Amino acid sequence: MSYLIAPSILSADFARLGEEVSQVLASGADMVHFDVMDNHYVPNLTVGPMVCKALRDYGIQAPIDVHLMVKPVDALISDFIDAGATYITFHPEASEHIDRSLQLIRDGGCKAGLVFNPATPLHLMDWVMDKLDMVLLMSVNPGFGGQAFIPATLDKLRAARAKIQASGYPIRLQVDGGVKVDNIAQIAAAGADTFVAGSAIFNAANPEDPHTYDQVLADF
Ligand code: DX5
Ligand code: ZN
Repeated sequence: MSYLIAPSILSADFARLGEEVSQVLASGADMVHFDVMDNHYVPNLTVGPMVCKALRDYGIQAPIDVHLMVKPVDALISDFIDAGATYITFHPEASEHIDRSLQLIRDGGCKAGLVFNPATPLHLMDWVMDKLDMVLLMSVNPGFGGQAFIPATLDKLRAARAKIQASGYPIRLQVDGGVKVDNIAQIAAAGADTFVAGSAIFNAANPEDPHTYDQVLADF
């Protein structure tokens, strides 16, 4: 499977979100990672479906990868389907019925994924492999950008990759948190094919000069 880079909007300038997202995409990013936090499942609050729709209305055509850090999940899944999401991923702890929530996403025409916190066991994916398009391993505890990559994620990525391979399904393996230019090769070697990076992309570029994203993305 090809490698994909998904800049996380969490570290973007929300006052000029459309512009920043267009710039990173023009510089080579593959999709938009859209972090949704509810100040309940995680201790932070971000944005909802209206902002996803606003990006579509602004003209963003790239895949939008909605990472739901909310509880409960089902009502927002429906709202993000309507708002133009491409992928919708959620944390299994936040859904009463994991299988049903995954089906809801697929029935809405979106791609579905489960997100595993650093301490969440991978076996929660075992009986829904046929309903997954993506598995996301958190390499930090969710809630904030700019945290350090948790090294145990490398072994967990190898374990997740083995499960995906054994399943035979074309499931993407994404990693989120603390991904930087200097550790991405190691993370890829452990089995990840889809890389979320927030601070490493948006904080590295000079917002006054859109071309600085070209260099940042080229380094990845
Ligand atoms: C954390 C979010 C991440 C975050 C990553 O809860 O899910 O997507 O923005 O940020 P960095 O790349 O700065 O660790
Ligand atoms: Zn995320």
